[in-house]
Amino acid sequence: MSSKILNGKIIANKIIERIKKKIKIEISNSNRKPKLSVIWIGNNASSKIYIQKKKLACIQAGIEYQEYNFKQNTEEKKILNLIQEMNQNKTIDGILVQLPLPKNININKIITSIHPKKDVDGFHPYNIGCLCIKSPKLRPCTSRGVITLLKEYNIKMHGLNALIIGASNIVGRPMNLELLLAGCTTTVAHRFTKNLNEYIKKSDLIVIAIGKPNFLKGKDIKLGAIIIDVGINKIKIKNQIVGDVEFESTVLKASYITPVPGGVGPMTVATLLKNTLEAYQNKYQYPI
Ligand code: GUN
Repeated sequence: MSSKILNGKIIANKIIERIKKKIKIEISNSNRKPKLSVIWIGNNASSKIYIQKKKLACIQAGIEYQEYNFKQNTEEKKILNLIQEMNQNKTIDGILVQLPLPKNININKIITSIHPKKDVDGFHPYNIGCLCIKSPKLRPCTSRGVITLLKEYNIKMHGLNALIIGASNIVGRPMNLELLLAGCTTTVAHRFTKNLNEYIKKSDLIVIAIGKPNFLKGKDIKLGAIIIDVGINKIKIKNQIVGDVEFESTVLKASYITPVPGGVGPMTVATLLKNTLEAYQNKYQYPI
């Protein structure tokens, strides 16, 4: 079976162009541009690349972009104070704190300090809770981006047996909530899961985000399964980026598959812009 490549780069570009048009209309109505503020602590090499992509996408769409880069040993209080200022600032629509954070900074304290209405990462417990009770507001970018990509290719999710491999707060857990919302029967596998291959071979849709190069192989999946690869792994010797899926063997057996690069990554960035526009438009009501 030859599979169809889910081209995240093309779809993401389409989404960014749609956002650009909407922003042009706002400006022609004498409204200000939407604005995203990014806080980045330390100098993690991967974070630097991701932030650069977010910045370029904002420029493409016409979103004002502001970045604060702090030293690795910055005090937590300083970051919390800046977030408080940003929460009050009426010209800032979205606040994003790039992860991972240095060990001296409490991630939950930082995430919960962002006002939910400006939480364009969708990681605040209020926003996660809303997704959980089938009343989504701002939603985590990667998992929302995956759903958008599947919908753009008219892939029906209702009733599919979906397996999420990896139970992180950034990808696996919100992905589980998104796929439930889309009508899938979901299973989340993680490092303690026994007999993972038993789950893999029964699944119609697999989303993998574990950071292990070429972990999922074609021989293990069901014929015609939909494979979504969230992995971004640097192979140092080859100076190459590969996913968590062994593409060459899996592409022959899957009905649809995302490439790496050019699959989920660009969808995450485009969804961040979509969330920023929605925050700017006050699309969702928040009780506080
Ligand atoms: N680090 C890796 N992915 C993400 C993401 O989606 N948001 C933030 N803030 N940091 C990340």
